[in-house]
Amino acid sequence: MKPDTSTVSPLKPVASASDVVAGRGALPGAPGIGDADFPTDGNGGYDVGHYGLTLSYDPPSKHLSGVTRIEARATQDLSRFNLDLSGFTVSRITVDGKPAKFDRAGTELSVTPASAIPNAAAFNVEVAYAGEPKPVRGSSNLGTYGFIPTRDGAFVTCQPNGAKTWFPGNDHPSDKASYDFDVTVPAGLTALANGELVGTPKTAGGKTTFRWRESHPMASYLATMTLGKFEMLQGTTPGGLKNIAAVDPRFRSSLRKLYDVSGRVTDYWSTIFGPYPFSSTGGVVDDFPAGYALENQTKPMYGGFAPGDDIIAHELAHQWFGDSLSITRWKDLWLNEGFATYAEWLWSEHEGQATAEQLFRRQYAAAADDPIWSYAPGRARPDDLFNNSVYTRGGMALHALRQRIGDPAFFRLLKEWNSTHRYGNVTTPEFVAMAEKISGKKLGPLFDAWLFTPKKPTTW
Ligand code: ARG
Ligand code: ZN
Repeated sequence: MKPDTSTVSPLKPVASASDVVAGRGALPGAPGIGDADFPTDGNGGYDVGHYGLTLSYDPPSKHLSGVTRIEARATQDLSRFNLDLSGFTVSRITVDGKPAKFDRAGTELSVTPASAIPNAAAFNVEVAYAGEPKPVRGSSNLGTYGFIPTRDGAFVTCQPNGAKTWFPGNDHPSDKASYDFDVTVPAGLTALANGELVGTPKTAGGKTTFRWRESHPMASYLATMTLGKFEMLQGTTPGGLKNIAAVDPRFRSSLRKLYDVSGRVTDYWSTIFGPYPFSSTGGVVDDFPAGYALENQTKPMYGGFAPGDDIIAHELAHQWFGDSLSITRWKDLWLNEGFATYAEWLWSEHEGQATAEQLFRRQYAAAADDPIWSYAPGRARPDDLFNNSVYTRGGMALHALRQRIGDPAFFRLLKEWNSTHRYGNVTTPEFVAMAEKISGKKLGPLFDAWLFTPKKPTTW
């Protein structure tokens, strides 16, 4: 789907003479979507509207086979274009039903259709592939992410760029799309994906196929096909929204709490941030010790621990901040993590625990030489994306803003931010502009001090 790319400048495509001849002026799409910190993530020249993923996974052999159908639209005359895919053997690619040439270099899969695709034309791509998925073992603070095989299945959490470890696509949050999942696993296992089940799972020949559909735009890193043995609780939140909770049998005792708290939190956030953007809520606890949780759209994943209220409140706040409103470039990650951290403080206060003001004070007490002050959270670093500053100082920035503009303007801003950009992509300057418009105050110095200056802020 079309992001606001006004702040993004794609890499220059590299055209060969044959590209130009073949497409009579058509050029290859860029190998990156234009995120300066992640120059080869995503791709240029097209925009995906929908993914249809047909997948089959066998845990004992770790064999994954898949067919990905991509519905896209060209954003230039395209002689060829790239997809992102890590590993696997690709057996066949067609574009609009006709066999296409392709080749691989690292995680770039380059596709040359039989004839050039004119700018603005809709086209579809089908990729058949198979092999053993390999997760990304990131640097220490990223941990392991992507498609992660587990004892009984797989834990699939892909932030920031691990979707390519299980399906080919445009692996960057600035190109959101709707998804259909058709996942086949050995009978007795459950395959979970985003959105809601379509029909009832079908078992035949010792295998069960689960069909899930997420019809709202979704960033690739939020897609999941977590599978294994699961115990589930399904129903509706007190407010009437579909609620789906699932836990690995080792976490059986946390199922009820996960279900209940997720329901109550989702209903509460709907009153603070505006209507819930998706068709169901819930959560999944698997036994892979990821050491983190991820806000997978409609189904946050908790990696190997029974989540407490704070992290449930955090991951569900991301359904608004991160999932419905997605970042356009990774350096703006505080728009996700600062807001989700601040939401933890709001939930604590709502539950009669420490107030947001108390929690802010506790963090602000950090000494002037604490590392939280030397990392400017408004500019997340590609080699240290999930730094504590992006979370905690990002959250403090929102509290400073709230004190400056007052509760009525602050909570109006949270709702208007959501309603204006629902299902879209956002940037920090857009947030600052809206905060200034709603409050009628000049807020440049406040945001500079809290987001962009590597030292402890003293005024707000
Ligand atoms: N966005 C997640 C959260 O704040 C954290 C994901 C961390 N990802 C990673 N690869 N370590 O809940
Ligand atoms: Zn988070």
